[in-house]
Amino acid sequence: MITVKGLTKTYGKGEAAARALRDVTFTINSGEMVSITGPSGGGKSTLLHVLAGIESCDSGEIWIGDAPIHQWDDRKIAKLRLAKMGFVFQAYHLVPVLNAWENTALPLIASGVPANKAKTRALEALKEVGLEGKAKQYPGALSGGQNQRVAIARAIVGKPAILWADEPTGALDTETSEQIIGMLEMLNRHHGTTIVMVTHDPLVANRASRSIRLQNGRVVHDGGGLQ
Ligand SMILES: Nc1ncnc2c1ncn2[C@@H]1O[C@H](COP(=O)(O)OP(=O)(O)OP(=O)(O)O)[C@@H](O)[C@H]1O
Ligand SMILES: [Mg+2]
Repeated sequence: MITVKGLTKTYGKGEAAARALRDVTFTINSGEMVSITGPSGGGKSTLLHVLAGIESCDSGEIWIGDAPIHQWDDRKIAKLRLAKMGFVFQAYHLVPVLNAWENTALPLIASGVPANKAKTRALEALKEVGLEGKAKQYPGALSGGQNQRVAIARAIVGKPAILWADEPTGALDTETSEQIIGMLEMLNRHHGTTIVMVTHDPLVANRASRSIRLQNGRVVHDGGGLQ
């Protein structure tokens, strides 16, 4: 369960201050698939970064299960992140000089898993996203949709309880977006992975059972369907 209470985040100071999150409060249950929507600059990416402990908040509470990460230091949060969280970004963020299985294995290597074990698990994760035949290809030789599938394989290689996705289909055409969303739904249903995904696309947002809309850093809608 993810519990957020009175979360506030401001970038910069004085005249230049941008209040990215204002008193954000909600709970996401384990196994939910939730979309985060709202206009550009509304605070969606900031929210994901703060929830994952990549950025700090000014005030408020963030509980990942029974872990109060708002009270934790970076090192402790990094450990929790490696153990429990996966990330998917709009721009894939793959390492161009590593092939598909090497990119996929990175989080395991960072957690200290031995190389041969990491490779076996990376190949399994690539199979889950339908890319078993592309394990040795480099990002430059794969399509956008295939690169996003490698990024999903990398995000799930450690079997995370939570998957954060920031515009995972933002760079893809409708048909490829459909495949990627189908894959996230499959992970949600078959593995019970909690999925929190930022999207501009109403078709994508509607595939989640719940939608949280952020505008000017505030939650202006939280429930089924879009508004
Ligand atoms: N690193 C930063 N430094 C300063 N201001 C920032 C930073 N990141 C975000 N902001 C500001 O915080 C606010 C929220 O930005 P955020 O990136 O979370 O919006 P978003 O909803 O993800 O927008 P988009 O849909 O365009 O990706 C904006 O006013 C933005 O300018
Ligand atoms: Mg954003």
